[in-house]
Amino acid sequence: MMEPHMEETYAARFPVYAFVNQKGGCGKTTTAVHLAGALAARGERVLLVDLDPQAHATMGLGCSPDRPTVTDVLLGEASLSEAVTPAPGGITLLPSEPRLAEFEEVSGRLIHPERRLALALEEAHRAGVRFDHVLLDCSPRADGVLCANALFASTHTLLIVETGAFALQGAIQALKVLDEVAENQGRSPELRVVGTMFDRRTRFARELLVALHSRFGDALFDTVIRTSVRLREAPALGLPVQELDPGCRAAADFDALADEIMALEVGRVPTADLKEYELRPPAPDSALAATPSERPSALPS
Ligand SMILES: Nc1ncnc2c1ncn2[C@@H]1O[C@H](COP(=O)(O)OP(=O)(O)O)[C@@H](O)[C@H]1O
Ligand SMILES: [Mg+2]
Repeated sequence: MMEPHMEETYAARFPVYAFVNQKGGCGKTTTAVHLAGALAARGERVLLVDLDPQAHATMGLGCSPDRPTVTDVLLGEASLSEAVTPAPGGITLLPSEPRLAEFEEVSGRLIHPERRLALALEEAHRAGVRFDHVLLDCSPRADGVLCANALFASTHTLLIVETGAFALQGAIQALKVLDEVAENQGRSPELRVVGTMFDRRTRFARELLVALHSRFGDALFDTVIRTSVRLREAPALGLPVQELDPGCRAAADFDALADEIMALEVGRVPTADLKEYELRPPAPDSALAATPSERPSALPS
């Protein structure tokens, strides 16, 4: 179970969105990168965490994964502030690298390995680091320790659904996995659904949207991300679409999604105003207080 003090403070300070779906290629990274770009373009402080060893978000923003990376942060060997790097479009990026895949093996020797990211965010906040939005780009391995870290740290789960054939079945299957993880972790981030790669010329895409709406209701964002050549080009150019071509329809879609995200957060106390609320120190026996003995000195190479 999450310690009460953490649930209360951490979740209220950082709205954290985990972009999930165990299906690869459904648009998780694309949605995370360009939503980050759209939010950053309006001056929001956005942290994008690349939690996929394939490092598509990192490479797609033209960043090289110089160490330290998210791997070192999860191992407790670097702080979040040491590992983040400025990325194009005003995004702050916590980069990934293939070595992150080895965290899975190492995690067997750690106590509560699924809490490492939440701990790092909490420590950053305590050190005065402020973000308005934290976006977590997950790997397709929904049952792995990396996704568990994302779900444990998140306030919202963003299920990304490609509006193609069999997508509804895939989404329902993804929900089952998410529910299991949430139950194991004793917490339930708020679910939201984003439809992507929408082509309104195809009838089944339109029908799928209707089906998604009847299945998920208000959890489905009104904004649907349409298919766009610009989005396909963006990773090779290393730019969020707001920088690449602010007038294109993909930029408009992500701007609309950013509006909806901002509306979700209305009523949230701005993080800057939270300073007077003192963070309660973790309980002495808190499993989140990582001890040096549980940290491996280095990843096996
Ligand atoms: N709305 C879109 N329009 C066109 N291509 C897209 C769109 N969303 C994603 N893609 C392309 O589809 C592929 C998979 O997308 P990606 O975001 O990497 O998926 P995931 O992170 O879920 O594996 C990429 O080549 C990406 O450029
Ligand atoms: Mg991806």
